[in-house]
Amino acid sequence: MPGEPVNLTDALASFTEIYSPRIVQRVNDYDVRVAKVEGEHVWHAHDHTDEFFLVVDGVFDIALRDADGFESTVRLETGDTFVVPKGVEHMPSSPGASILMFEPSGTSTTGDRHGEIPDHVDSTTGHKL
Ligand code: NI
Repeated sequence: MPGEPVNLTDALASFTEIYSPRIVQRVNDYDVRVAKVEGEHVWHAHDHTDEFFLVVDGVFDIALRDADGFESTVRLETGDTFVVPKGVEHMPSSPGASILMFEPSGTSTTGDRHGEIPDHVDSTTGHKL
């Protein structure tokens, strides 16, 4: 059965919650999710999967921490894509942006390991639109 077209602009206009991804499509065993982001997320790591990001609108920073504890930050702007490799600790933050993520269905937004989750971060495997 074919699915339905989903417009990203409409999808992003249909909710206001920050760091609370909506699933817009499924591709094989993967979700295409969109989220609104603002402020700091939480340090976390996905032990079993890479995580793909596309910035739909705005500025989105991803802090990365390597195995030696060294931290660096990648700044992504509208149209930029980036992949966080599996196992790498990362913490997204943003002055305000809309993003698209591509990752296996069931992947938690806060990973398999994480710091203390702030109230404005939804620990979820994604919500229906
Ligand atoms: Ni992540």
